[in-house]
Amino acid sequence: MKTEWSQLDEYLVDRLLPPDPTLANALSANAAAGLPSIDVSPTQGKWLHILARLVRARRILEIGTLGGYSTIWLARAVADGGQVVTLEFSPDHARVARENIARAGLSHVVTVHVGRALETLPTLDADAKFDMIFIDADKRSNPDYLTWALKLSHPGTVIIVDNVVRDGAVLEASSSDPDVQGIRRLFDMLAAKPRLTATALQTVGSKGWDGFAIAIVN
Ligand code: SAH
Ligand code: DHB
Ligand code: MG
Repeated sequence: MKTEWSQLDEYLVDRLLPPDPTLANALSANAAAGLPSIDVSPTQGKWLHILARLVRARRILEIGTLGGYSTIWLARAVADGGQVVTLEFSPDHARVARENIARAGLSHVVTVHVGRALETLPTLDADAKFDMIFIDADKRSNPDYLTWALKLSHPGTVIIVDNVVRDGAVLEASSSDPDVQGIRRLFDMLAAKPRLTATALQTVGSKGWDGFAIAIVN
């Protein structure tokens, strides 16, 4: 199936995503620097971009930058004067991301904070709420990231979490994988919080079988 999913993604990219040298260069730079190719896929990146425009996001928070591929899609969605704040643990990933963001002409939009997100989140201005929050870092910390996302949200903020299916691994309630447990706790929290209206979608494509959770703050 994986081959067909990838072929179908190639078809969609061919129809819907015009050649984009900036994003192609970013992926090449990531590969040259040895970063893992765990960025969102092109169709997913554009989907995030459209969601950001739908909510007219002016301030976006991303947890998990990697080489800035999703960051660039998001930064292109904010209007003039908008901001993307992105948090990355690895100084090496952050350096590559800053270079990619600079080549994309988006350095004035994006701020990359380096360090463990649970250490950089408390340094953000608690009064400057975000319109959209994309959680895509270490999956075991998803429950903590959701708690932070709620603190940094206003009514109408959209919270999106990547990789909530993981080839179906999330079904295994007794899994010893802390990432699986982090995703399961995330779903428990999404279900329990009256402030959130949430759903999730499974995805297949060039990145395999996975999914996104999406929630809006009431
Ligand atoms: N959003 C990116 C992909 C992110 S991959 C894209 O789609 O293009 C996940 C990233 O989270 C990796 O770069 C990893 O180094 C980072 N990460 C892992 N643990 C982290 C933590 N505790 N704090 C911040 N970033 C973390
Ligand atoms: C992994 C992380 C991601 O953010 C992703 O999209 C895919 C895989 C990982 O850590 O394996
Ligand atoms: Mg991801």
